Amino acid sequence: MRFRSIATRRLFRWTPLLLVLLVLAVAGCAENYPQTSLAPKGDFAQMVDHVFRLTVRWAALVFLLVEGALIVAIIRFRGKPDDPEPKQIHGSTVLEVIWTIIPAIILVLVAIPTIKTVFATAKDPGNEALVVEVVGHQWWWEFRYPDLGLTTANELHVPLGRTIDLRLESADVVHSFWIPQFAGKRDVFPKRETRIWFKTEDAGSYPGQCAEFCGIQHGRMGFRVIADEVADFDAWVAGMRATTATVPVEDSLALVGQQLFATKACVGCHSLNAVNPPPGQIGPNLANIGARTMIAAGMLKNTDANLARWIQDPQGYKKGSLMKIPGRITDDEARALVAYLRTQRITSPAVVAADTP
Ligand code: CUA
Repeated sequence: MRFRSIATRRLFRWTPLLLVLLVLAVAGCAENYPQTSLAPKGDFAQMVDHVFRLTVRWAALVFLLVEGALIVAIIRFRGKPDDPEPKQIHGSTVLEVIWTIIPAIILVLVAIPTIKTVFATAKDPGNEALVVEVVGHQWWWEFRYPDLGLTTANELHVPLGRTIDLRLESADVVHSFWIPQFAGKRDVFPKRETRIWFKTEDAGSYPGQCAEFCGIQHGRMGFRVIADEVADFDAWVAGMRATTATVPVEDSLALVGQQLFATKACVGCHSLNAVNPPPGQIGPNLANIGARTMIAAGMLKNTDANLARWIQDPQGYKKGSLMKIPGRITDDEARALVAYLRTQRITSPAVVAADTP
């Protein structure tokens, strides 16, 4: 230790910081960053992004000019040991007026588009929009389409080219609804409706997330927005409309699962029917669960293994969730339940294709 030079010791002291910077730099190179608000895919998000970029450009220009002038002054006018004392001055009215007026002009140039955007994004989306009622629950999202008579959960299907008028409310505590690529955050309150809207022209599957701390599983309160071509959306609607509480099942394993679903308390909280599900359902609606991309509120890929794991031990993955299994579900029972849930899928090939990640 004693032989280490001062330079080596300094280097060691800065190593943790250098490592953190290196990790951040490498992370910045990641190609896949779906939960970003910097790649807007909806009209609402694009308007906000426009103001953001404009403000960043002005800020960058100011930074470069001010820091540039500072560096030039430091180098060009630096003192030398035998310099005489410089001329003493006090204030400059001309300079002070200039450096008050220039920032004021820049602020006005930023304020005009900002205020325009505030009003544009607060306007009523109009009667042509597709209304979706969003209900935040600890810890999942319910989506109701009152005009289509459909209810679903955690995967919000929307058609391209039509404004989606979201009306948000909470069933319990305060949540915040956020689809980074489509719109800003909107707080979700019990007994008070808030609204937000967006329209997209880009088909795809987009992640969303609760953005307000709402309890122990706040971080696992995700969802997905699946933006469908109009024909695919219509097929999804038709498929969901055809779902019923009791689907005939031929497979013998699925038949066992169907009986378990009715006797193991699943049916008390979940409906498999997207059309007018019975009131008072406390768990997510499961119509089309067999073909959804994710389970557990947008958190786990909808594979047989994950579904079985979730059914057998929901508290192991999402402690505090209302899903509590009375007694125990054996591996065989879980396999049968998974086989049954896989049969709960709407049949339109277009929708199945769009649902595949
Ligand atoms: Cu809901 Cu955080």
